Formats: sequence, structure tokens, C-alpha cells
Amino acid sequence: MILIKLGGSVITDKTQYRTFNRDVVSRLCGEIRDSGANTIVVHGAGSFGHVLAKEYSLQNGFADFRQVPAVAKVQHDVRELNLMVVGELLGAGMPAVSVPPGSCFMMDCGKLIMDNPEVLLSASRLGIMPVMFGDVVFDRSKGFGICSGDQIMEVLCDLYCPKKAIFVSDVDGLFDKDPKTNPDAGLLTEVTSERLEKVSGVGIADDVTGGVRAKMESMLRMTTPERECVLVNGSVPGRLCSLLKGEKVISTTAKGGLR
Ligand code: IPE
Repeated sequence: MILIKLGGSVITDKTQYRTFNRDVVSRLCGEIRDSGANTIVVHGAGSFGHVLAKEYSLQNGFADFRQVPAVAKVQHDVRELNLMVVGELLGAGMPAVSVPPGSCFMMDCGKLIMDNPEVLLSASRLGIMPVMFGDVVFDRSKGFGICSGDQIMEVLCDLYCPKKAIFVSDVDGLFDKDPKTNPDAGLLTEVTSERLEKVSGVGIADDVTGGVRAKMESMLRMTTPERECVLVNGSVPGRLCSLLKGEKVISTTAKGGLR
């Protein structure tokens, strides 16, 4: 089985509140189906989650009651996004169901804790794809917190032991410098903990879940001697499908665990 996270940057326009990239998602769902791979899809929140979460500092947990309507609104918005993604998976012929993270997980001080794996296992045993997403989840210590799709991927790796984990984004992979400001930036085809230390351009965090460095660290934590984690550009047609079929594509592969 292969776990896939469709990042918020590819399924939404991150600069415009609540803008769904339906054509891209529809194409990606077709690529997943056409690859013939056994997959489970997780997705990010993009502009359905980050905009309000940032405005109301939801990532830091409960501070005052003015945040409460924003908690409810973000939960509402990411559910709408999730139903649109599930709709596209169904349209591509895959039996997908919506599983809000709060139905299986709690958080404690920002750490995601599996509360009830039965929902997920019951679905996947029947060949139904449970589709989870970045959301606001209740936190035992902080009231609530932001649960990212990347955190969900880590917990699902423990539950399902996939042979590969794939992160679909709108960039070709990890660069040795920020490619937006350095035209000579080079793509790293492989990343290890040691390599990540030396990379200068990945520290920019422009969203509430930590940006590229947090993503690479999370990807490294998911690797095992048997499992690689790959970052691939979903904006380029055909790349996800080729990767799922085991072909070589432009991408960054995380290896060797996080030290
Ligand atoms: C963020 O999830 C969840 C909320 C802001 C509610 P992710 O961190 O997985 O979303 P993307 O992929 O960066 O958009």
C-alpha cells in the first residue's frame, strides 16, 4: 500500500481564501486510479484552513474565547474541502469516505494521538479508502490544536506500514537554496538528516504548520530501511502516476530516518 498526501498548495490556491483547484484534483485522482496502485489519500487544508487558522492563532491552542467561532468555521471549511476531494475520488471510481481526524484522534500539547483506529481499519478492510485531512482537533492540554495532514501521514504510517509515502506539492522537490530568490538553486534528489542540516533555503515558514523544513523532518521520520518518502510536483501532469507505477521522476526522496 502507498500513502499519498495531496498538499494544500496543489489542491487549493493558498493565496485566495477557500479556492479549490478542482481541475488539478480531478486529474490527480485520475492518475491515482490509472496507476493501479493500492493507495490511501490524505490531504492538506490549503486556503480552507491556513488563512483563518493564522488570523486567530489556532496553532497555539486556546488563548481566549474570540478564537472559538474561528475553530468552528475552520472545521466547517476543511470539511467542505474534504467532501470535494472525496467527490473527485468517487468520480474517478475509487470508493472513498470522509473520515474527520477528530473521529479517530486527540491531540496532547500538539502531539497527535491515535484514540480509535477501528474506524480506519474497518474501512480499509472493506476496500474503502478513508480520506483524512488537516483540521482543528481537540487537545487535552491546549483545548484545541492544528492537526496537519503531515502529522496524519506519520500516524497512518505506524498503522498501515505502507511501502512508500508520497507528498504531492506544487514544487519539484527540495532545493539547496530558496529557488524563488536564487536562480542557481539545485534540486536535491535525495535528502538525509545530514544533508537537511546543510540546506539554507528551507526555513521559511509561511503557514501555521511550519513550512518546508517541518515537512522534510516529518518525511524523514516516516522513512525506515524499507520505506522511502518522496516529495513530487503534482502540478506537472503524469508525474504522480509515473511515481506510483515505480518509474523514475523528478522528485526528492527522503532516506535514512531523522537524527
Ligand atoms: C493544515 O493542514 C490544517 C489547518 C490549517 C486547519 P496541512 O498543514 O496539512 O495543510 P497544507 O497541506 O499545508 O495546506
